[in-house]
Amino acid sequence: MCGIFGCVLKDGNAAPLIHSSLKRLEYRGYDSVGIATIFNDKIHLKKDMGKIDEVDKILNLDDMPGSIGIGHTRWATHGAPLKVNSHPHADCTGEIMVVHNGIIENFMDLKTELQNLDHTFVSKTDTEVAAHLIEQTLKNNPKLDLVGAVQESLKRIEGSYALAVISTREPDKIVCARNESPLVLGVNGKGVFCASDIPAFLPITNKAVMINNGELVILSPKGYEIRKISDSSPVIREPITIDWTAEMAVKQGYPHFMIKEIHEQPETLRNTLRMQDHYLDLLSTFLDRANEVFLVACGTSYHACLAASYMFSKLAFLPTYPVYGSEFVEQHGKSVSIDSTILAVSQSGETADTICSVTCAQQRAATVLSLTNTIGSTLTRISRVYIGTQAGPEIGVAATKTFTSQLSVLAQLALRLAKKRGKISQDEIDHLEEQLVRLPDTVDTIVKTQEQKIKIIAEKYKDAKVFFFLGRGISTATAFEGRLKLMEIAYIPAIAFPAGESKHGPISLIEDGFPVVFVCPKDETHKTVIGNVMEMKARGAHIIAVIEEGDEEIKSLADDYVEIPKGVPSVLSPIPFVVPLQLLAYYTALAKGYNPDMPRNLAKSVTVK
Ligand code: AGP
Repeated sequence: MCGIFGCVLKDGNAAPLIHSSLKRLEYRGYDSVGIATIFNDKIHLKKDMGKIDEVDKILNLDDMPGSIGIGHTRWATHGAPLKVNSHPHADCTGEIMVVHNGIIENFMDLKTELQNLDHTFVSKTDTEVAAHLIEQTLKNNPKLDLVGAVQESLKRIEGSYALAVISTREPDKIVCARNESPLVLGVNGKGVFCASDIPAFLPITNKAVMINNGELVILSPKGYEIRKISDSSPVIREPITIDWTAEMAVKQGYPHFMIKEIHEQPETLRNTLRMQDHYLDLLSTFLDRANEVFLVACGTSYHACLAASYMFSKLAFLPTYPVYGSEFVEQHGKSVSIDSTILAVSQSGETADTICSVTCAQQRAATVLSLTNTIGSTLTRISRVYIGTQAGPEIGVAATKTFTSQLSVLAQLALRLAKKRGKISQDEIDHLEEQLVRLPDTVDTIVKTQEQKIKIIAEKYKDAKVFFFLGRGISTATAFEGRLKLMEIAYIPAIAFPAGESKHGPISLIEDGFPVVFVCPKDETHKTVIGNVMEMKARGAHIIAVIEEGDEEIKSLADDYVEIPKGVPSVLSPIPFVVPLQLLAYYTALAKGYNPDMPRNLAKSVTVK
């Protein structure tokens, strides 16, 4: 997730406006910043790594001439957060500048093709190919104008993008376009603007035009013109009035970041499906060679590791050991060796216990691999190979979208390894891959159809003194995560364990009205889970079940239930099944009058780059 902004003013300097607008988009990424303007038919460019204020102190971003320009604030996905990888990116001639938010999936193929045509690349980003591709398209078709060249280039780009392009060839316009990354226009009497999000321009105008997938826009002093990328057909769309306050706008109209981020999961899950093949391959090769694999993490990330241990075992027949970051040194510090591989998982890439485990393992010559949401974090710097979760910045202290993204990447890794090891049939792999692709829509359906119901359940149980969260198999990890969410933001003590363990002690706590949340996908554990539900019910527990749609058996036993669309394979089930539990925690916190974005005594780890 990055933030882009562009403006064409009728009069005056664009740079100060771009600078202040990027500041309001900094929540989308803060690894680097850059602005390009056009003045007297020349490009003026300032960019560097670091937060906007830090870069501004050195470069004075406002001091750039020209009434037209584009800007970018970056959350690194391809290429480290360095100056060379900062946007805007240029073609070989420096005449074309591009800013981009999204992931160009086929950038390696395009880059190779363009390098063979003598294009020189300076960055490691996927975005730079767009600049060179436009340049090459113009070279191949000298009669094309900038709009035509951008349009033809976009037809060859696969993946997600919101991009904005300027060129000295046609210095009076910005060409921008969208596919699966947000893009919105702002208009007022002084000019036209394009941005990743409304807060960017809200202080200057509340008139906005939403841009849809497959659309291209030409911004000029005359206004804006929208066309379809596929056939140039014109699109007529009038501005709408936005009545959000600035604070609401940053949260896109949601009252809290946590609920915004829960709702973002269809989009963030879609992004995880655009992993770079090369890194998945590399990681799975290291895992394949390992004698012992530790999955090390804390909190929510540990729960992703717990789920992953089931995925690796069931799909790739690889035994792995999930270990809490805070326990690793004590538990395995002496035995970890050159034969060990550590896969560390961390949203921030900075969690002290995780880093400490990794350092310990490294000192004993173990191989360190990692999965993180923060490229450039300590973890990426000390790992042999790392891969990003592509979830964009997560502001809510309670991890939500980063958890489901971690699960999706880990599932892809397990599948890649399964393929390599030939442990399960190609048919099964194909089926799981198809189901993985359907998950963003499944999560979308859950949020759309179950949210109101969960709100009512939260209201009903908000005064409970304690909760149980139970699941079997991989759903144990889901239950653990549901419990952590409820405890950390609604401050209700909760206990989670594998459902089969309930009769070995915990069941003695059950009395009339005790709420027990069961995670019950329709997998091989289903029958035994029904037994556990009945045991609890017989002792007066109130059963709240997360079930597959149409699971009449559990419906008839449950006091309350939430339904997940049918057909999610067991190994992928934590991704959709955790969503109702995130919502339950959120609405319980609200019902009790707490701010879910600011749980007491907790803060998110941040990266110091
Ligand atoms: C969960 O909601 C918390 N934010 C916390 O458990 C978190 O997952 C843990 O501190 C680990 O953080 P990391 O993923 O950044 O390493």
